[in-house]
Amino acid sequence: MGFYVPDNVVTNDDLSKMMDTDDQWIQERTGIKERRWVNPAIDSTSGMGVKAARMALERANMKATDIDFIVFATLSPDYYFPGPGVLVQKELGLDTIGALDVRNQCSGFVYGLSVADQFIKTGMYNNVLVIGSELHSGGLDKTTRGRSVSVIFGDGAGAAVLTATDDTSGILSTHLHSEGAHAEELALIGPATNRWVNEIIEENDENDESYFPYMNGSYVFKHAVTRFPQVINEALDANGYQPSDIDLLIPHQANLRISQFIQKTMRLRDDQVFNNIMKYGNTTAASIPIALTEAVEEGKVKPGDLICLAAFGSGFTWASALIRW
Ligand code: ACO
Repeated sequence: MGFYVPDNVVTNDDLSKMMDTDDQWIQERTGIKERRWVNPAIDSTSGMGVKAARMALERANMKATDIDFIVFATLSPDYYFPGPGVLVQKELGLDTIGALDVRNQCSGFVYGLSVADQFIKTGMYNNVLVIGSELHSGGLDKTTRGRSVSVIFGDGAGAAVLTATDDTSGILSTHLHSEGAHAEELALIGPATNRWVNEIIEENDENDESYFPYMNGSYVFKHAVTRFPQVINEALDANGYQPSDIDLLIPHQANLRISQFIQKTMRLRDDQVFNNIMKYGNTTAASIPIALTEAVEEGKVKPGDLICLAAFGSGFTWASALIRW
């Protein structure tokens, strides 16, 4: 595992200088104290992914050239096309291996892990690099109009190197879901083919919010607190385990209140749930690999532990992975 976050710390007080908000509101509703925003001259979505990948490779005692395939999850790619997977392939000097881009927002890393797991289990590849990276700061509405979304999101990247083993450790199962009926409840509509950039420019409407992320906050909250426990229980049931068997749950860092709700619903102890949203905000596809890397660094993930990853987000999509570490 590896991760990278930009050095630039943006506190809630910093945000209150840009928009009408305050530290107390943000902490009470989301648990977030600060987040990182890139310096665009230094960092990009693919570049942060490469930095996280280099750390993961070093910790796995592997060279970049050992990687057989790349999976890159993000909702904030460098370019409209091509996706950032090929930029990582180029930057790491990985000959002509395949690179797949995953568009599943907050669930992107778990979806990516599932793809990598299937490739490894079918014997197609031995070593797969999975990256989740997000650069939100450049695309947020940093005025009072956008405050209910902008205070939540941060920049960063996390990466995992998955490798084939003969023992019983590793990914036990993954569980993937979606419900497109709610696609527009958490979405960025344009620019895209539904809303071309020349249309936006021609209209030149200062009230146009279509190119900023939109979130129906309370609607997302209600669905998240239902889907998270469902998909965690699905993973436990599939493998014959109970919530009490989980050594560490790493939920997508959407909002501390959502994590606390899941913990209460599933009757988990504090030491069974890992949260670091306080420091980084919601980094979407990057949040789980960043959190997992920190949990490993803090000694909270030990060999033999039962680790559960779970995510919910835009789409809606939701997913879980159960891992014997
Ligand atoms: N600072 C100060 N006041 C604000 C801010 C802000 N940043 N944002 C909104 N407000 C105001 C609103 O204007 C509103 O004022 P009004 O009552 O005068 O109209 C008031 O605060 C309450 O606004 P709500 O949107 O109702 O606030 P709510 O209590 O629902 O909290 C929040 C909003 C935190 C987004 C909440 O709905 C939530 O947690 N939703 C879950 C969604 C989530 O966490 N998504 C994460 C990303 S998606 C994902 O990863 C799954």
